[in-house]
Amino acid sequence: MPRPAKHVFICSQARPPGHPRGSCAEKGCREVMDEFLFQFQQRQCFDKVAITATGCIGPCSTGSNVLVYPEGILYGGVTKDDVSAIFDEHLLGDKPVERLKVPSDLW
Ligand code: FES
Repeated sequence: MPRPAKHVFICSQARPPGHPRGSCAEKGCREVMDEFLFQFQQRQCFDKVAITATGCIGPCSTGSNVLVYPEGILYGGVTKDDVSAIFDEHLLGDKPVERLKVPSDLW
């Protein structure tokens, strides 16, 4: 497998109800992951993009969080409806989706 141009890390962290940090799981990260995997298959990005479920990335309050390398750009408040834009604009178009970026004082 060639090295992918982009690697997407999708926070899949869950925590018990009422936990003070909350979690991306309670903010819909499962749907986000499912949509990334669906579009990955549809677009056949097998040698361009890698997608990995990960534990807590850091700023839980902004979840669901999605981190893209090599740029190290963190997207927050991501829903399944945002996945197309991340694919089209960033993963394939090489231009980060500004409206989804976590503010620089948090990341
Ligand atoms: S739980 Fe997702 S960033 Fe912390």
